[in-house]
Formats: sequence, structure tokens, C-alpha cells
Amino acid sequence: MARIFNFSAGPSALPQEVLEQAQAELLDYQSTGMSVMEMSHRSDVFVGIASRAEADFRDLLGVSDNYHVLFLQGGATTQFASIPLNLTQVGDTVDYLDTGAWSSKAVKEAAKYCHVNVVASGKSGNYSSIPDVAQWRHGNNARYLHICSNETIGGVQFKQFPNVSVPLVADMSSDFLSRPVDVDRFAVIYGGAQKNIGPAGLTLVVVRKDLCGSARVETPGTLDFAVQAGADSMSNTPPTFAWYLAGLVFEWLKNLGGLPGINEINERKAAKLYDTIDASDFYQSPVEASVRSTMNVPFTMPKPELDKLFVSGAEAIGLSGLKGHRSVGGMRASLYNAVPEAAVDALISFMNEFEHEHG
Ligand SMILES: Cc1ncc(COP(=O)(O)O)c(C=O)c1O
Repeated sequence: MARIFNFSAGPSALPQEVLEQAQAELLDYQSTGMSVMEMSHRSDVFVGIASRAEADFRDLLGVSDNYHVLFLQGGATTQFASIPLNLTQVGDTVDYLDTGAWSSKAVKEAAKYCHVNVVASGKSGNYSSIPDVAQWRHGNNARYLHICSNETIGGVQFKQFPNVSVPLVADMSSDFLSRPVDVDRFAVIYGGAQKNIGPAGLTLVVVRKDLCGSARVETPGTLDFAVQAGADSMSNTPPTFAWYLAGLVFEWLKNLGGLPGINEINERKAAKLYDTIDASDFYQSPVEASVRSTMNVPFTMPKPELDKLFVSGAEAIGLSGLKGHRSVGGMRASLYNAVPEAAVDALISFMNEFEHEHG
């Protein structure tokens, strides 16, 4: 078996132990004689899997009873529409902070439903930093403020979350469960599973209960938070296998010491890579040091024509998924929870050799 080191931005690496457990249980889940994929979502066995996963998720992130946790479909992109549909009425204003490609997409979608006030944008600085909170211009009576906690493409990440007087909504797709977060400061947290949580096809939404129940009349039932909460996220057939796999990931995280434990590992992995970049005149990080992401690390070299050579050389020794996003160029190493520290060590030694040869 040849498992390689996978630095893909998502879908991305899953813990090997989790895949092995899923493999061992694939044909006959706990003496049921069938795979989880083949089970009714209404069966006692699956309902047990689902509720255990939710309990472990709540435990890991510290989600109180004031919030619903929803296991949905449609990805974070569908939430770009669900959020305004659930939290606004026609004519309302909402605040969005534009820190990169994903915030911009969220703005575009929300603008179909309400008046979007962009409080500040990092665009003129090529999205290399997060606009200073003192410069944010809030809209009148905005129903909420939307931020992206970690821009997967640009590699900027909030280190502290802003104190605001309106409900705070965060797209945490690419740093969900990578570090402890004070959930009580948020109205809604959401994200696609395919980075730190499990396979694609599952979307996690944590929403304060008092914000549910006043969705617009035209909101599709499957997107209505109150409807899904009332049906335990089963108003239609949920993505059962992805939900089960996420549950295995949650158990794996708990065994690693929960979010403080994984955060320590993530900080160490990212620091090593940024130190390597900073110690060299050859590699450069386009991101301001104070907001560099621990999850997605873009970096460039002085001659962009070397990019292809870097990516193919890395691929040849089992380091995969390092090509940067087409909008940024260069390279990007995604260091999600399931990317082992050994992968980062192997990448750093390849970077040092490559610099030695081409620098
Ligand atoms: C920060 C962020 N938001 C939203 C999305 C879109 O997620 P999905 O493809 O699950 O709709 C992504 C996908 O990579 C992302 O990284």
C-alpha cells in the first residue's frame, strides 16, 4: 500500500486510522450484516451513529444547548444562500467583510436576497491581510456580519474574532475543528466537511436557536434551519456515510486531546513551514505575518517558471496537491488536521533541496 503525503486544499487528507476503521466496518457494520451506506437513515443503528457524532462534535467544539447542530448537504456554497434566507427579510441590509475569494463569493450570493454592505475589503492589497477593524464601516441596522475565518485560497486567517454588536456569522469551512473557538460569540458557524471533518457531501451548521423559525416564506424546506432542526437534520435523506465518517473523525480528534491537542500540533506544523519560508530568500509568503493561516500556506518562488518543476519534483517523491490556486499562482500547502507532521518535515526537506539546486 502506498499512501502519499496529501497537501490538497479539499477534498483533502483523512486520518489513516479513520479510513482503516471504515474499511474494517465496510461490509458488516457491527454485526448488522450491512454497510452503513446500505442502512435506512431511520434505523436505530444509524440514528445511534448520527446522535453519537453530534454529541462528540458538541463536546469537541463546546457547543451549548442554545445552539442547533445541523448535518446538511449542499456545501458551504449553499449556506451562502441559506444564511440570508434564514436570517433576513426582503429589503434588509447585511454586513460582509471581504477578505478574499470565498468572502467575495458569499457577498455575491447574499446580494441576490438583500442589500449587502461590504464593511471593508482587502482586495486593493491583493488580499494579503485582514482590513483593520477600526476601518470597518457597518451598515445601518445590518441583520448580521459575515466573515470567513480562514480564506482557503489566499491563506489569511482570523487569529482573534471581532467584537461586534450584530450577530456574527462565520464561514469556517477550512479551519473548522482545527483550534478551540468560543462558540458563544457567534450566531452561526458553518462549513463544508471536506477539509477537517470528513468526506465531501456533508455540511455542518451551528446556529443559535433563537435565530431559527423566521426564514423567508420562499426558503426551500431543506435549507430552512428550523425545519431541519425539527427533523434532526433528516427532513430528507441525509448523507449517511459522510455523517458516519465524520463521527469517526470526531472520535479520532478526541483521542488526540480534542481541539487544544490538535491546535498544538497544527501550530507546530505551520510554524515549521513559515520558518522555512522566512529563513530563505528564495521562498516568499504573500501573506502578512500576523494573519498567516495555519491551514493553507501559499508560497512563491522568484521565477514562476520553476513552479511546474517544483510541483512535479514533489509529486515524484510522494508529496501531492501542492500546486497553488490558479488565481494566486505559486504553491499552496494545506496542512489540515489529518496531514501528519512527517508530511510537513518531508515537504521542508524537499524545499531545502529544491532551493539548493535552483536558488
Ligand atoms: C472558505 C470556504 N468557503 C466555502 C467553500 C465552498 O465550499 P463547498 O465547495 O463545500 O460549497 C470553500 C471550498 O473550498 C471554502 O474553502
